[in-house]
Amino acid sequence: MSEKKVVRFIITRQESPEANSYEETFEVPYRPNMNVISALMEIRRNPVNVDGKKTTPINWDMNCLEEVCGACSMVINGKPQQSCSALVDKLEQPIRLEPMRTFPVIRDLQVDRKRMFDSLKKVKAWIPVDGTYDLGPGPRMPEKKRQWAYELSKCMTCGVCLEACPNVNSKSNFIGPAPLSQVRLFNAHPTGEMNKAERLEAIMGDGGLANCGNSQNCVQSCPKGIPLTTSIAALNRDTAIQSFRNFFGSDQG
Ligand code: SF4
Ligand code: FES
Repeated sequence: MSEKKVVRFIITRQESPEANSYEETFEVPYRPNMNVISALMEIRRNPVNVDGKKTTPINWDMNCLEEVCGACSMVINGKPQQSCSALVDKLEQPIRLEPMRTFPVIRDLQVDRKRMFDSLKKVKAWIPVDGTYDLGPGPRMPEKKRQWAYELSKCMTCGVCLEACPNVNSKSNFIGPAPLSQVRLFNAHPTGEMNKAERLEAIMGDGGLANCGNSQNCVQSCPKGIPLTTSIAALNRDTAIQSFRNFFGSDQG
């Protein structure tokens, strides 16, 4: 009788934010086209490690299961990526799963991406709406510009570009490439432009643009192909102009 094919996983476990991490190995039955999340679900159904010892189910985040929400991001074989779109057939075995270390670990592979959402608040990454009465349709955006903006809007706040950036870590308050690129997106919007100066000023201070070391890791790691380094270069120009405006006392954004 032929032996049943299995997939071996070495998973970094951590019981709480304060606990020490350790590795635990699991084997799950192979199925064609399985992704990392389906293997994690298999382990959750039967949390028994490779030594036959019953253990606790593994924690991780997930939501959309189609590479849209960014919640399931983790480090797979050394590369930060989404576990819902990571196919087992394309990965070398044993498959190593670790949490993204740029963010505080909550438990096992689940991390707290709050620093990214705080940064989005800091740079006002939204279009202001009055909300008290119907303002009617906003200004139209030329189709070519809309298509360009759509590419930037694909950011799912997954955190992969922050994990890949050497300048984003627990000792630095650098907001990282994703929120910077969102500044470019919202400043390009005909209504969002109203807050352009505020957004630029938010990234001119500590933890902003000047903390970028131009390693270019971010643009290579982004699963959505967002032109992060182009955004950063454009913002360098925009902030230089903003500095002149501030110096000469013009409040035009
Ligand atoms: S820019 Fe790309 S890598 Fe960074 S958070 Fe957004 S989708 Fe993820
Ligand atoms: S579960 Fe949403 S990106 Fe993977």
